[in-house]
Amino acid sequence: MKASNTPVSPSKVIVSYREKYVRAFVLYLLFVALLFYVEYFHESPRPVRRSLCKISQSLTRLYACSIDSGNRKQEHFTLSSKQEGVEAGEVGSFESLRNSFANSFKSISDFHLKPLISSLKKSNWKFINWLSHFYTLVQKNSELYDNSQVVSLTRTLVDMPTCLEAVAFVADWLKARDWNVTLQPVPSQGDNKERRLNVFASRLGDPNPSIVFCSHLDTVPPFIPSSVRDDGFLYGRGVCDARGLVASMLIAAQNFSRGVGLLFVTGEETDHDGMKEANKLRLDTEYLIVGEPTENKIPIAQAGVLKMKLISEGVSCHSAYPERGKSAIVPLIKLLSELLEFKDYPKDPELGETVLNVGLMSGGIADNVIPDRASADIMFRVVSEPEIVEKMVEKLAKKYSIVTKTYSKNGPVRLYYLEGFPTFVAKYNTDIPYAKFYHKALLFGAGSILDAHTSQERISLDDLRKLPESYIHIANKLLPR
Ligand SMILES: *[C@@H]1O[C@H](CO)[C@@H](O)[C@H](O)[C@H]1NC(C)=O
Ligand SMILES: *[C@@H]1O[C@H](CO)[C@@H](O)[C@H](O)[C@H]1NC(C)=O
Repeated sequence: MKASNTPVSPSKVIVSYREKYVRAFVLYLLFVALLFYVEYFHESPRPVRRSLCKISQSLTRLYACSIDSGNRKQEHFTLSSKQEGVEAGEVGSFESLRNSFANSFKSISDFHLKPLISSLKKSNWKFINWLSHFYTLVQKNSELYDNSQVVSLTRTLVDMPTCLEAVAFVADWLKARDWNVTLQPVPSQGDNKERRLNVFASRLGDPNPSIVFCSHLDTVPPFIPSSVRDDGFLYGRGVCDARGLVASMLIAAQNFSRGVGLLFVTGEETDHDGMKEANKLRLDTEYLIVGEPTENKIPIAQAGVLKMKLISEGVSCHSAYPERGKSAIVPLIKLLSELLEFKDYPKDPELGETVLNVGLMSGGIADNVIPDRASADIMFRVVSEPEIVEKMVEKLAKKYSIVTKTYSKNGPVRLYYLEGFPTFVAKYNTDIPYAKFYHKALLFGAGSILDAHTSQERISLDDLRKLPESYIHIANKLLPR
């Protein structure tokens, strides 16, 4: 369906509760009216009755897939059998069906109803046309919704705009399944005062499991609600980086009654403070299984990073008399071009080459003023200890009297590899270098890092459905026999 393909802009997502319930209620009333129509006109043509029932069935499926409740399969089944009764013309079935719908409509999320309603507005209101149009829409929509547990759990997590909501949901979800859950506060960063928490869960009496499934619940902005498209992918912020992986780990962990724990941190996308704080949990983990989008491969290593600021100072003056001042921008440009063309950065047979990005520049105030300040933020993906590259940059910068400031660095990490999986080298950074409580770390997940952080973040539904099993498989291989 076209409407569900359009990404919803964040401002539109925050629909007032009133609007949401008015919509749901109008739909509900319409449907109840239709049911009454069938109830009162027993001789109403069977095809009309049948389409009504099909609509109700699809609506129920939509409902069943839009929530993650333990007994939704059962509920779905009960409703289906009621619908069969309605279709056969049993009067008694109407009452209970109506009650069930009252509940359904309260639970269908706005994200599921929205595309449906916007298409309905454009439809022809002639009764029979409307009915068949409504049926096609609902049918199409409910087909798009996947009733596998991992997909619906992923969507539930992705549709939470804040990290804190996702944390609270995960903690409750685990507590309801007899996990010993610890919520660990993480200090807030800068002027962002939002409360931050890590979630750690272990089985009762097994507080230090040898395997810990680990990923992060924070995402990069902006919030994009989940949507399934015809191409077989689930879209939305965090579907692969990393809430879909969190959902898979949650499900996978249910298969272990001991030896396995779960750690979901915050701040992975910003300052890594969540993982730094997690070191204080005093865990002693043999295998840390970290979820990031690795396209179902297990990397043998992860490149390190080096983030530096280059600060150039000059003397400002009128641009007609440059000899009176000293430009801050000119030497910075020279240094940057020298850094970009430099050939002697470290190389590594496994990790490949050092990669440099000049990511941010600023300087000057106007075209007719010699600039007295300029700076550039640069970031290396390092394949050696970062200090080697740091020294090279400092040496070149000195030549141009440019001051350097390193604000973050970590070396590459060799990762634990399991036979039987395709492999590669991860050029991107993860939380792993900041974790100090494990012996071996393994990086694995579905989805591509190239889709993460984009407005088209996505994960293949096939891959997502298989992911919990893969995590179970990996943990089973690593658990001591
Ligand atoms: C629950 O978890 C906490 C924190 O990890 C731990 O100190 C405590 O011993 C655990 N309790 C049980 C019964 O496992
Ligand atoms: C996980 O546990 C469920 C329920 O006990 C079982 O049906 C399933 O086969 C298990 N999965 C694997 C991969 O062991």
